[in-house]
Order: sequence, then structure tokens, then C-alpha cells
Amino acid sequence: MAVVISSSGNSPAFEAKMTIYVFICVIIAAVGGLIFGYDIGISGGVTAMDDFLKEFFPVVYERKKHAHENNYCKYDNQFLQLFTSSLYLAALVASFFASATCSKLGRKPTMQFASIFFLFGVGLAAGAVNMYMLIIGRILLGFGVGFGNQAVPLFLSEIAPAKLRGGLNIVFQLMVTIGILIANIVNYFTSSIHPYGWRFALGGAGVPALILLFGSFLICETPTSLIERNKTEQGKETLKKIRGVEDVDEEYESIVHACDFARQVKDPYRKLLKPASRPPLVIGMLLQLFQQFTGINAIIFYAPVLFQTVGFGNDAALLSAVVTGTINVLSTFVGIYLVDKTGRRFLLLQSSVHMLVCQLVIGIILAKDLDVTGTLGRAEALVVVIFVCVYVMGFAWSWGPLGWLIPSETFPVETRTEGFALAVSCNMFFTFVIAQAFLSMLCGMKSGIFFFFSAWIVVMGLFALFFVPETKGVSIDDMRDSVWKPHWYWKRFMLQEDEHDVEKRTA
Ligand code: BGC
Repeated sequence: MAVVISSSGNSPAFEAKMTIYVFICVIIAAVGGLIFGYDIGISGGVTAMDDFLKEFFPVVYERKKHAHENNYCKYDNQFLQLFTSSLYLAALVASFFASATCSKLGRKPTMQFASIFFLFGVGLAAGAVNMYMLIIGRILLGFGVGFGNQAVPLFLSEIAPAKLRGGLNIVFQLMVTIGILIANIVNYFTSSIHPYGWRFALGGAGVPALILLFGSFLICETPTSLIERNKTEQGKETLKKIRGVEDVDEEYESIVHACDFARQVKDPYRKLLKPASRPPLVIGMLLQLFQQFTGINAIIFYAPVLFQTVGFGNDAALLSAVVTGTINVLSTFVGIYLVDKTGRRFLLLQSSVHMLVCQLVIGIILAKDLDVTGTLGRAEALVVVIFVCVYVMGFAWSWGPLGWLIPSETFPVETRTEGFALAVSCNMFFTFVIAQAFLSMLCGMKSGIFFFFSAWIVVMGLFALFFVPETKGVSIDDMRDSVWKPHWYWKRFMLQEDEHDVEKRTA
């Protein structure tokens, strides 16, 4: 492949080709996203399976049998929610360890650790004979997610040429959506295998975990990580290999320069508290809050439950989840295609309006026509399903992928793994909050929950409008000069830092 690429904007232009090797690295690394997606998708289906409920949550099972009594409160059970959400808490904690291994050992070993956690987690969860095994299995899976989600997006952003960084990074999100879709299909078929369909469903994550483990031996370490750890020659060779050109001097020098500067920073977490770190830190963390408060996981975790609630039967519920899953995958391609053309901001802003309309329509229909014990008419249920699908579309090309892309490309080397770890842990925290609270919120707020998410979408749209600058085409080590310094709001933090540096030099 001989697409010659150079960066745009104020950023320096580095020569690069899109090589087959980079392509292979991207696909293998992104398998980490597949496992994450599978774990997200599988829990909604498994917690809807009677065999699973009878074995671990008999009280919920009894209540489910009388489900027609209340449309909004069927499965409201903190322990059942803990099954889903324990994974995210574990991932939250794990991302800090993963940040350390990412810096000290590299992105590649961190991915390998992820695959090992996944394999043990899958074994325990799928083979569980009691609640402890089940929860410990989920926690190990969570460690896998923490390590994978830390290493993979960073890896992708670092090996991608600047001009294609957005699209290549979104392959991670693409894999997440494929994982969710596969989980939905697996849920559909395993739900009719009695009594152990749920074991197959939970065990399925073992396949991508093995692919990640073996595949990771084929991929390279990122040049930045090698140079950061003083393996400069190896870093240069890798850069030549992934860029497909002999002359990488300029890019190499810029990485060396960034790493030299990074080495002077002894305490990256402290550095993150300094004014100059404010823009990527605030944006990186808030994007996670916003991504989760779009309400996406409320819809995805419990899509089967939601479809049942609006009056579809058990099978139709899972089948509908397959429909939303497919739309999620296909729409992510739109993001891959557009992110380096229209840029990040356009996608964030367009989708905020788009998702807001969908949430409002769904909320209004449910508020008007779904009372606590009745069912929706077929036509209305169909409209809800259609708007859920359109909503998923908007998320899939914007807040979904950009929540991972933007924090992985905006921190400078000296705080990159730590800053990104904070973003990942925030993501996990808010995913946990939604997973743990959604069913109770649905039960308490009923259709009002959709208005709750609508309000958040307004806030995040405004935030994107005023505070998220465009990072398309800017070299990853050049954000400070090309992005933050010219920004109407964030520039003040850069000035503070410059003044501070001058004071230090003249003192
Ligand atoms: C989010 C997940 C979500 C998924 C949906 C990801 O970017 O982090 O929480 O389930 O997108 O496709």
C-alpha cells in the first residue's frame, strides 16, 4: 500500500505510508476492544436467562415470573446489578496498574497481561458453581478490561500516522461494537440451551482472549514507548518499519525530543495537577462522564430488558438487540471515515443534536403511553425501537469512539499513560455508576430517565462547542503549540505555565 501521508495544519509534516504491518498491528491490538464489547453485551443477555437467574439470583427469578406486574421495575436488584458492574470497578482500579506497566514495560506487555486476566476471568465466570467464582471471574475480566483499554487506544494513537490517527484509533471502538454484536448473537442462541447456555455465553470471551494473547507476539512495541525507555535504536527501526519509509529522522527527532522532556518529569501525577495539563485532563475526564451519560450503556446493557419492557417477548428482545448491535457496528464505519475529514468537533456536535432528539422522542412516547402495568401498542413499540436504533447510530460515530480517541491523542508523553489512565478509570467509574444505578433509576424515574439523559446531552453538546478544540491532523506530540495555545479558553493555562517557566529560569 503506498498512500503517502503528511500531517496538516500548523503541525510538522512527517512522511509516512499506510503499511500492511500497521494494519495488522491495529487489528490485533483492537481485539482487546472486542473482548471489552463482548463483556458489555453478554451481561444483559445472561442476566435475562432463567437458568442463570435460578442458579444465582432465585429472588429475581421469582419476581421475573410476575413481571407483568410492573413494566419498569422487573429486575431491580442490587446484586444482579453488581454482577454486571463489578467488572467496571475492577477495571477502574486496574487502569492505574496498567498505566505503570505501560510506562515501565511498554504497551505490548500490558496487552499481554490483559489477555491473561481475560483467560482466567473467563474460566472462573463460565465455570462458576457459586456466587464467589462468578464475581471473582467478573473482577478478573475487569482487570483485563482495565489493562486492555489502557494499552490499546494508546498503542493505536502512537503507531498511527497523524493524518490517519482518528480512523485507526476508532478501529478499537469498531471492535467494541463487534464484540457487543457477537455477544448479542451468542446470547440469542445460548438462551435456548438448557440449563447451561449461560456458561457458553460467558465462556465465549475466551476465543478473542486467545487471539489477543497469541496475536500480541506478532505486533511491535510503539516507537514512543521504546524511545521513552531508552531503546532508541530499536525505536527508530520500528518507526521505519511502521511508516514504510527510510527517512523518519524528523519524526524520530520529535519523539526523542518529547521523551527527553518527559524524562525531566519525575512525578507525572503531580505534573497532571499543573495548569498546562488542565486542558487534556479536564477534557479527557469529562468526555468519559459525558460518554456514559449519553445513556448508551443504559440502552446496551439492558437492551433485552428494555425491549421486553416495551412489550416484545423473550426472543424478540434478544433479536432486537442484534438489530441495534448491527447498527452500532455499521455506524462506527461512518466515524472511521469522517473523523479525519470533518474532524472530531463536527461529529460531537452533530450527534449531540441527533441523540437529544431521539432520547426526547423515546421519553415522550413512554411517558404518554407506557404505564406501570400496561403494554405499548405495536406501532408505538416499533417507533421506540426505531428511535433507539437512530440514537445508537449517532453515538456510534461520535461520543463512543471519540471518548477513547481524544484522551489518547492529547496528553504529552510525560503524562500520557497517567493522564489516559485517569480517563479510562473515569470511564469505568461512570460505566459502573450507570450499570449499578440504571435499573433502580428506571424503576424510580420510569420514562423520566430519558429526559434525564436528554438534559446531559444538552450539557455535553455545549461543552463540545466551547471547550473541545479540533485535533484532526495534528501530530500527537504537537498538541500544546497547535491546539492549546491558540484556543480561546485553554490558552490561559499555557500562558500561566510559560510565565512560571520564565520566573524559574530568571530566579
Ligand atoms: C463505551 C462503552 C459502550 C460502547 C458502545 C464505548 O465507547 O465506552 O461504554 O458500551 O461504546 O458501543
